[in-house]
Amino acid sequence: MYDFRKIFKLKVLRKSVEVLIKSRDYWDKRARDYDRAPGHSGFEEEWKKFLSSKLSSESKILDVGTGTGFLALLLAELGYEVVGVDISEEMIKVAREKAEKRNLKVEFKLGNAEKLDFKNEEFDAVVSRHLLWTLQNLKNCIAEWKRVTKNKVLVIDGVWLSDNFVSRVKSGIAKLGIALVERRNVFKLQYDKDTQKALPYYGGVPKDVALRMFREVGFSKIEVEDLNYLKELFYKGRFLYKLAWYDRNWDYYSIIGVK
Ligand SMILES: C[S@@+](CC[C@H](N)C(=O)[O-])C[C@H]1O[C@@H](n2cnc3c(N)ncnc32)[C@H](O)[C@@H]1O
Repeated sequence: MYDFRKIFKLKVLRKSVEVLIKSRDYWDKRARDYDRAPGHSGFEEEWKKFLSSKLSSESKILDVGTGTGFLALLLAELGYEVVGVDISEEMIKVAREKAEKRNLKVEFKLGNAEKLDFKNEEFDAVVSRHLLWTLQNLKNCIAEWKRVTKNKVLVIDGVWLSDNFVSRVKSGIAKLGIALVERRNVFKLQYDKDTQKALPYYGGVPKDVALRMFREVGFSKIEVEDLNYLKELFYKGRFLYKLAWYDRNWDYYSIIGVK
């Protein structure tokens, strides 16, 4: 008898690849103006201070979902040897241009955070910022990052959107304001509905969920820290952006898993 589980598995696999392709296409289109939004760039000294406090003894670092290379470039400036991977060729292009302008040596490569093309324990640490919500299988990804590191996995992430009606209305009005002031369609800054539905944490990963995943992956030590003080900085003086994408009750945190 034919094993129908095979068909099911193939369908799941096909769907997962489709989501990945759509995600890549979305970030390809966003690459050139990605750094304009608050929280995507800027406040480099504060970030460097934070990174140095978390990564002391490590020297070779992988930045997964590096995007336009924000963490990777800061880490290179701090003297670490850095590799950045991303599924979007356009994001990688911007990252390479930025590295050249700053005269920094970082290896930027295409790669999938779900299945990395690296040996076990090839890096001293893996870092990632603002990537979790775009992933289809969070636990598998964190396990994969744990595989390629000798010491730790450091993730910076949070919650970006709310289903709450009042929040959505507030956000809609603010986005309209940004669209008028900046003359660009900020309503397009989101995945299409199908992709949104396919992502279990579209809108962000609460701290307790990240903590549960890190525990299930089996780190020997886990540290969580609130980073809302940094998020407050990003939105200072950016009233419309703050109204559209910020609420002090939403989690913004770092989580470190030590092997
Ligand atoms: C919100 S951006 C964050 C970029 C950067 N880490 C930062 O902090 O500015 C998410 C990035 O993750 C990348 N990405 C999404 N899914 C990915 C995957 N499965 N593997 C690798 N990169 C992925 C996207 O292409 C995009 O550049």
